[in-house]
Amino acid sequence: MGSIQPKFKNPATTTLLELVKARRTYYSLKPESPISDEAIEHIIQDAILHVPSSFNTQTSHVVLLLKEEHQKLWDIAINIMEGLVAAGKAPKEMFENHTKPKLNAFRAGYGTVLFFVNYESLAAIKEQFATYADKFDPFALESNAMSQYLVWTALCSEGFGANLQHYSPLIDEQVQKMWNVPASWKLDAQLVFGTPTGDPSEKTFVPLEDRYKVFGK
Ligand SMILES: Cc1cc2nc3c(=O)[nH]c(=O)nc-3n(C[C@H](O)[C@H](O)[C@H](O)COP(=O)(O)O)c2cc1C
Repeated sequence: MGSIQPKFKNPATTTLLELVKARRTYYSLKPESPISDEAIEHIIQDAILHVPSSFNTQTSHVVLLLKEEHQKLWDIAINIMEGLVAAGKAPKEMFENHTKPKLNAFRAGYGTVLFFVNYESLAAIKEQFATYADKFDPFALESNAMSQYLVWTALCSEGFGANLQHYSPLIDEQVQKMWNVPASWKLDAQLVFGTPTGDPSEKTFVPLEDRYKVFGK
């Protein structure tokens, strides 16, 4: 299923789908960039501006950390985890053999994109559309995920490797302090990126037949 390549009207559609396939999780990274910092910023700014949000609520926010600032983020995560180990709240062996090398691998990248959602800004619209009130928070998170996906795909398109992390709420307070982030911005994900030094791991797929149906073709 899905193996025959159809003809698209716009060749850019084929390119787009190729980029979708090329986006993978890369854990092995080095602190080099194939493009200028301005080009990275351009990708992120376009994502912020043009990724849709429900009722155009524009709830996604981003902080881009490059080079030393990126390293500071992962130092924060390492220090917090070390604190948990020292307090007996996390097993030392697990930290030394697994968690610390993993965090250091993130630190070895070129940058991290921090993705935030401002749920507080939804108060008015929740009142205005009371029947949808419980939908707005998940919609905001879905919109944020779309931005994460676009930035991930575009960075891979430019020769970066990237991986998506979730160290919230562990790092939230220190991130807020360190980069003066408004309290209303709730951290969701951290996209780590750098020049790949290894391939992504092999990926297996559940048969498409189990995940897709079409009617009326
Ligand atoms: C919503 C979401 C959350 C994820 N969270 C993490 C995470 O916390 N840590 C991590 O290493 N990878 C995370 N991943 C990456 C997935 O494990 C990865 O995308 C998946 O195994 C498919 O591999 P691929 O990215 O190479 O296509 C996440 C991916 C998605 C879409």
